[in-house]
Amino acid sequence: MANNITFTMIKPDAVAAGNSGAIIKMIEEAGYRIVAAKKTILTPAHAGQFYEVHKGRPFYNDLCKYMSSGPVIAMVLEKDNAVEDFRKLIGSTNPAEAAEGTIRKLFAKSIEANAVHGSDSDANAAIESSFFFSMTERF
Ligand code: CMP
Repeated sequence: MANNITFTMIKPDAVAAGNSGAIIKMIEEAGYRIVAAKKTILTPAHAGQFYEVHKGRPFYNDLCKYMSSGPVIAMVLEKDNAVEDFRKLIGSTNPAEAAEGTIRKLFAKSIEANAVHGSDSDANAAIESSFFFSMTERF
């Protein structure tokens, strides 16, 4: 699909480590246009809502705590084949399994503190983008 979107968050570990700039550079060099961007701190309740799909999984409570432990940078990104290409750019959820040169291989600290989030479908990209941004905040 032409000019479709994905949603990403640079997670608290990567923001705290000062890796936001390097990660955004990789994203732009991969051909993504930043449609919207926001640095914010999630409450545990908001993190829980964002990751509702994982409710009940053993890592859910820790994930909510971690995702509200410091600022994140949320972004809507636009490019052809945005979702699939972005998942290739970031690599596997577990950095130990991520391919060389991927964002998670380079910057993630653990399976939880894995530097970035990326949407897993066009439908979720739309839902996740709307969680953070109204249509009038996208340029
Ligand atoms: P993300 O791609 O944002 O989606 C769900 C998040 O849960 C994942 O990245 C990790 O930050 C976190 N997580 C923690 N433990 C696990 C696990 N065992 N499996 C999958 N995700 C995990």
